[in-house]
Amino acid sequence: MHLSVKNLSHSFDYPLFHDISFELPPKTSIAVTGVSGSGKSTLLHICSTLLKPNDGEVFFEGKSLYKLSASELINIRRNDVGIIFQSHFLFKGFSAFENIELSSVLTGLPLENELLEKLGISHILKQKPGDISGGQQQRVSIARVLSKRPKIIFADEPTGNLDAATATEVTELLFNYIKNNNAILFLVTHDLNLAKCCDVAYKLENLALKRL
Ligand SMILES: Nc1ncnc2c1ncn2[C@@H]1O[C@H](COP(=O)(O)OP(=O)(O)OP(=O)(O)O)[C@@H](O)[C@H]1O
Ligand SMILES: [Mg+2]
Repeated sequence: MHLSVKNLSHSFDYPLFHDISFELPPKTSIAVTGVSGSGKSTLLHICSTLLKPNDGEVFFEGKSLYKLSASELINIRRNDVGIIFQSHFLFKGFSAFENIELSSVLTGLPLENELLEKLGISHILKQKPGDISGGQQQRVSIARVLSKRPKIIFADEPTGNLDAATATEVTELLFNYIKNNNAILFLVTHDLNLAKCCDVAYKLENLALKRL
C-alpha cells in the first residue's frame, strides 16, 4: 500500500488544518499528535475513506479516494482499510469472540489463535464487551481489525486505556504487522514516546503538521 495525501484542508466550526501533504510508502508508519480538538481524528477519518475533505485529495496506490464511485469506495473500505476507533464500537450483544469473528466472516479469512494469545485476550473471549475492562475492549477491537488483514491500519489512540507494558506489546504487534504485510500504519496518539517509534511523527498545530 502507498498512501499519498495532497493539499488537504478541512474546517468544521473552525478551521482544523490547511494545505497538509505527506506520503507514506509501504511498511512505514506515521504518528499524529496534538491537543484535544486540534483535528487529529478528523484527519484520520479523511485519510481512511470516511470523510470527504473540504479541499485536497487522498490517494491509495495512486487512486484518488473521493473521486471513486460509492461502490468502489465501499470495496476499498471493506478490503483494504482497518480502523481502530477512539471509541471501540464493539457490538454489545455479541461476545468478544463474536465481535472478532465478524471480520473473518466478512472477509472469509481464518481467525488466528496466535493473534488472540499475543493480545492476551484468549481467556475473555466468551464475555460481552460490558463485562470486560476498557483495555480488554481495546485489544478485542485491535484483534477484530487485524483479523481482516488490512493493507492500511488507522489507529486512533489505540493504547489510551492500556498500561505501559501492554501498550508496548500492542504497538509492537501493529509495527510487526505492517512490516510483514507491506502495510501502512496511521497512528493518532498522545504518547510522544510512542509517536517517536513511527517513521515520521507530527504535531497538528496552527493548521499545519509540524515534525516532532
Ligand atoms: N462531524 C463533525 N461535525 C461538526 N464538528 C465536528 C465533527 N467532527 C469533529 N468536529 C469538531 O472538530 C474539532 C476537531 O475534532 P477531532 O475529533 O478531529 O479532534 P481531536 O484532535 O481528535 O481531539 P481528541 O484528542 O479530543 O480526540 C472539534 O471541535 C470537534 O467538535
Ligand atoms: Mg480524537
